[in-house]
Amino acid sequence: MTTVVRANDLCWCGSGRKYKRCHKDSAERVRPGQQSPTRPVPPAIARPDYAESGRPVLTSEPLVKDAATIEAMRRAGRLAAEVLAVTAAAIAPGVTTDQLDRVCHRACLDRGAYPSPLNYHGYPKSVCTSVNEVICHGIPDSRPLRDGDIVNIDVTVFIDGVHGDTNATYPVGLIDPDSARLITVTAECLELGIQAVRPGRPVSDIGRAIQARAEAEGFGVVRNFVGHGIGRVFHNGLAIPHYYDPSATTIMEPGMTFTIEPMITMGSWQASMWPDGWTAVTADGGRTAQFEHMMVVTDQGADVLTRPPV
Ligand code: MF3
Ligand code: CO
Ligand code: CO
Repeated sequence: MTTVVRANDLCWCGSGRKYKRCHKDSAERVRPGQQSPTRPVPPAIARPDYAESGRPVLTSEPLVKDAATIEAMRRAGRLAAEVLAVTAAAIAPGVTTDQLDRVCHRACLDRGAYPSPLNYHGYPKSVCTSVNEVICHGIPDSRPLRDGDIVNIDVTVFIDGVHGDTNATYPVGLIDPDSARLITVTAECLELGIQAVRPGRPVSDIGRAIQARAEAEGFGVVRNFVGHGIGRVFHNGLAIPHYYDPSATTIMEPGMTFTIEPMITMGSWQASMWPDGWTAVTADGGRTAQFEHMMVVTDQGADVLTRPPV
C-alpha cells in the first residue's frame, strides 16, 4: 500500500508542521542533473568574438544603431523566434532539458547561426532552460521534464555579426491554476513593458508598468537580472530594470535596441545561485516565469524584432 501525503497533513519528519510548510518544497525542488559533452559548431558558421576564449572582446557599442545594423538585427530576431518555436515544440513530459539543447543547437546551425550562449563567459550549452523555481540561466542537463512543470526556453542566435534574443515560458503537460496565472500575467507584463517604450521617455517607464501589473496580482519582480542593450554585443551595458528604478534615467531614442525580459515570482523576488555559478533560483523555492522580446525604438514606440512566426 502506498500512502499519499497531502499538503495539509503533518510532515513525516515529526516537526509538527504541515507537510506543505516543511518538506514539500525541498522534495520538489529542481536539482542539477548531468551535462552532456560540448556540442560542436562547424567552422563554416561565423562565431562571436568570445566563442573560443569565453571572454567577449567588444563589451560596449553605440546604443542607437544605423539602418544596416537594425536590418541585420531584424533577421537575427526572426531566426531567434523561429528557433524558439522549434525548440518549444519538443517540450513534453519525459523529455530532458539536454534534448531541448540538442534541438536548439541543431535549429541554429540549420539557419547558419551560432547559438550565442555557447561559451559566453564559459556557459556550457546552446540555450537556457529554466524549470519551476529557476529564474533564469538554467543549464540543460539530464533532468526529464515532468507533467506539471513550467519551463522557460531562452534562445539567442548570432548571425551577420549581431544577436537576436527571445524567450518564453511553457507548461509541461497539465499545470496547476496558479502556475497558469503566473505565465499569463508574466506575458502581459512583457506586453505592458513594450507598450511603455516611447522616444523621449526614460527607460524607468518600462519597469514601472511591469511592476504595477505584477504586484497587483500579488507577484514579485526579480531585481538581480534586467533587460539589456543588444546588437553586435550580447549585453552592451544598457540596463532595463523590470521594477521602478528612478536611477534608470537613459532616455529612449529612435534606433535604440534592447530587450525587455521580466522575471515574475509567485513568492519573494529574492534570488540565490546554484554552485554552478549560472543557475539563479528563487530563494523561497516559489515558481517563477519569464518572457523576453528584443526591440528597436521607433518614432512611435517599439518595433518588436522577435515576434513568433505565424
Ligand atoms: N539570453 C539571456 C538573456 O536574455 C542571456 C543568457 S547568457 C548565457 O540575456 F550565457 F547564460 F547563455
Ligand atoms: Co535571452
Ligand atoms: Co536577453
